[in-house]
Amino acid sequence: MQCVFVRQPAALGLGHAILCAEGLIGDEHFAVLLADDLLVGAVPVTKQMVDVYREHGCSVLAVQEVSIEQTRQYGVVKGQAVSDSLLSIETIVEKPLPKDAPSNLAVTGRYILSPNIFACIRNQPRGAGGEIQLTDGIAGLLATEQALAYRYQGTRYDCGSKLGFLQANVVLGEAHQDAGEDFRGWLAEHLATRNRA
Ligand code: G1P
Repeated sequence: MQCVFVRQPAALGLGHAILCAEGLIGDEHFAVLLADDLLVGAVPVTKQMVDVYREHGCSVLAVQEVSIEQTRQYGVVKGQAVSDSLLSIETIVEKPLPKDAPSNLAVTGRYILSPNIFACIRNQPRGAGGEIQLTDGIAGLLATEQALAYRYQGTRYDCGSKLGFLQANVVLGEAHQDAGEDFRGWLAEHLATRNRA
């Protein structure tokens, strides 16, 4: 594997960060994985999405249902059902207040994107929080291209929150091929000691 790192010179938003990688990508669809969303599936979630892309040939966004109070933390989509797991997106809004949210279907940090997204991001004004938002670029893309929302098979750990990060460490630690057995033993001992104290 060849890894190339690009530095985003200023924290201007997720859309801007992706724009910084434009020169590396060229004219092909590409995947975006936000590392603070850890998605664990029997089939890796990005692989599931690549399979959807191979079948439909358009942009694909991972989504899951959240409570309506949580919509302000996410990009939120609404669309027409294509199948049990797919929607053709009609609307996407970044971090709407619950009263403005088009649905409770939230984007969870995995995207397969058309290269036309770069022009859409470049041509948009700053969005939520004064940032150059990927979500607004996707909203622009919808004017000319289909994009699908995909309800993935798997579990999400929000590693952008302290609780989610800690939960991910415990769950994945317990299941770890090399360290799992020792970790499970240590954890059981640790909890027993604490409960005795
Ligand atoms: C970003 C995106 C948002 C998406 C979220 C998923 O927000 O802007 O649309 O729903 O990731 O975690 P952030 O969490 O960086 O504020």
